[in-house]
Amino acid sequence: MTMTNEDIRNLGEQHVMNTYGRTDFALVRGRGTRVWDADGNEYLDMLAGIAVNVLGHCPPEVTDALCDQANTLMHTSNLYWTEPQVLLARELCQGSGLDKVFFCNSGAEANEGAIKLARKYGADHYGPERHVVVTMEKSFHGRTLATLKATGQPKFHEDFGPHAEGFRYVPLNDWEALLEAVDDAVCAVMIEPVQGEGGVFPVDRAFLQKLEALCRERDILLILDEVQCGFGRSGHLFAFQNYGVTPDVMTLAKGLGGGVPIGAFLASDRAAASLGPGKHGSTFGGNPLVCAAALAVMTRLNAPGFLESVNDKSAYFKEGLEALAAKHPVILEIRGLGLMIGVKLSVPGAGLVKEAASRGLLINCTDTDTLRFLPPLTVSPEEIDEAIAILDGLLSGLNP
Ligand SMILES: Cc1ncc(COP(=O)(O)O)c(C=O)c1O
Repeated sequence: MTMTNEDIRNLGEQHVMNTYGRTDFALVRGRGTRVWDADGNEYLDMLAGIAVNVLGHCPPEVTDALCDQANTLMHTSNLYWTEPQVLLARELCQGSGLDKVFFCNSGAEANEGAIKLARKYGADHYGPERHVVVTMEKSFHGRTLATLKATGQPKFHEDFGPHAEGFRYVPLNDWEALLEAVDDAVCAVMIEPVQGEGGVFPVDRAFLQKLEALCRERDILLILDEVQCGFGRSGHLFAFQNYGVTPDVMTLAKGLGGGVPIGAFLASDRAAASLGPGKHGSTFGGNPLVCAAALAVMTRLNAPGFLESVNDKSAYFKEGLEALAAKHPVILEIRGLGLMIGVKLSVPGAGLVKEAASRGLLINCTDTDTLRFLPPLTVSPEEIDEAIAILDGLLSGLNP
């Protein structure tokens, strides 16, 4: 029996916890930048599973790698070395200039691990009082008890106390506030090079460079959360490579597996030395199956010309959006880096997201009034044109 959108929605409402605002339709199939729902409607996917499907849906090299690995060895636990894990670790270290990787399963877990590493580093070198992590207002770092408190948005903290201690927040790009927040109790500053959930806000180059210098001077760990903006999305393999800085610790997830759940945090040798045997772990983290997929994604990102094409498409997308902004005064600002683009409106965005879906375009809205575009990095110029045309029609409906 084939289930319809309604069948799937009804069953979901009956048995799945009601924690997400979901659409009325259910997706059943995808290929490249297109997905189809259970009633056969087609959508242009400019959200890519919230920055996960970096090579689009069902990219052949990833599905082939998964099938081969599934037929060879899927899971072993981390009591044993496996070839896909060490090969992926080498690629990530070579691509980032960092020295060691810890594999986990999600962005929140990667950040949780990075926070543990920072606290242990602070305690090892300066004593347990040095345990505070400074993060940015409007940041998003995850939903576990520590990462939701690391998230600089009070709405996520409500109802879940008592909270993990030891987090301080400063406004993004506010150097004076940062200087004031950083005292001898601070072991790390954690920051997204481009805030995603907070509304697509890139950090200022000068701010990040000064932050790096301050962290080096005071031996504070600079943790970059590249869960959303990393892995090719910014037009460089890692977003920090746009800024001429090097982190001590970097966290990844989302695009890393091209559609399968994998997270990681990377660190310099000096920082990583603080997490010795028994200090951190994950049963599933970095199993052969997900690492084989991530290796296939990484091979494609490293192919000659791939990242340049992301920059070209970013410029093309932004040009199209600028043209729309000239026509529709409801667009106030276009911002972002690479193929992580936010369009700030003078009206709330949720209704437009719903209307876009009914016209076959999948996007979402952050910060109440910012439409967010996170297409697969393989999106074509024609698909960008198509998205702009749908958006044009949508916004025309808003004009007086
Ligand atoms: C920057 C950033 N960090 C962490 C997370 C949490 O990742 P996950 O949902 O995989 O736990 C997200 C998710 O949106 C994110 O955008």
